Amino acid sequence: METPYPTPADTPVRVSKLGYVEFQTPDVDRLTNYYTKVLDFVAVEQDQSEAYLTTSFDHHAVVLKKAADSKARTVVGYEIFEELSDAQRRLTAAGYSVERRSDIAPSTPDVLVLAEPLTGSTIHLYDAQSTSGVEGYTPIRPSKLGHVASFVPDLGPVQDFYQGLLGFRWSDMIGDFFVFLRCNSDHHAANFMASKKFEGMHHIAYEMRDLNHLQTMLDHLAKNDFRLHWGPGRHGAGHNLFTYHKDPDGNNIELFTQLDVITDEAKGYFEPRPWHEDYPQYPKTWEVDLVAVNAWGPIEHSMIEH
Ligand SMILES: [Fe+2]
Repeated sequence: METPYPTPADTPVRVSKLGYVEFQTPDVDRLTNYYTKVLDFVAVEQDQSEAYLTTSFDHHAVVLKKAADSKARTVVGYEIFEELSDAQRRLTAAGYSVERRSDIAPSTPDVLVLAEPLTGSTIHLYDAQSTSGVEGYTPIRPSKLGHVASFVPDLGPVQDFYQGLLGFRWSDMIGDFFVFLRCNSDHHAANFMASKKFEGMHHIAYEMRDLNHLQTMLDHLAKNDFRLHWGPGRHGAGHNLFTYHKDPDGNNIELFTQLDVITDEAKGYFEPRPWHEDYPQYPKTWEVDLVAVNAWGPIEHSMIEH
């Protein structure tokens, strides 16, 4: 019998951006110090047990919570552009357990809380954060939280969740194990690497305005004794200029600029750039080689080990 209602998969949640990522850390002060003194974030709220850090008008892009062991990407928050009750109804109809809570943080009075398939991470969906009062320009601070990459035991259920229910679009794939998904014009807000060996976060990435901004930050990192373990280079998938270093807890931190964008979903290809391999550059599956991983130089094999 034909249903008068669209199936949940036909009406995915309208996610507008990656909002925040939460980390557990045994030393909130140490990691807060890294974010504020080295990456030039602003600590909007901070005590011994937690910290809320931002780069711009949102109350927070990074949340730190004290715990016995370091653990990254315990929570990922996405801003959505629709009524929470409508999103909750469709997610529930699709078989997901969704709880609406008002006690997550004062800056996000209403949050839908659900479990990400297979990872043990928690997903928050909210319609807006209160503003932080952060304003003005600094030469160093990243322009925004860009994306977060995670190991998953199997891509299928995770892609079903993000593409089918949260409306993410498929941007690229490397081999059969590394998928890049977008929720707005940016090439990816979430990427997932299939692995039977590893779990948890692969890296988190903050956007720099341009290569000069990135260079200023790299000199600042060096002054603070943080060294790169990969880059600078240019990825194929996404074409972002990248660098990677580790925060004091050992998490991989990417600083990037010049990420591909799609400005017209109907057109379906990335805005043309002279460094593209294809004209036009459509989402595709890449071979695992230098072109896909680093157009400028060597592959750091530990970064694609899975
Ligand atoms: Fe990245």
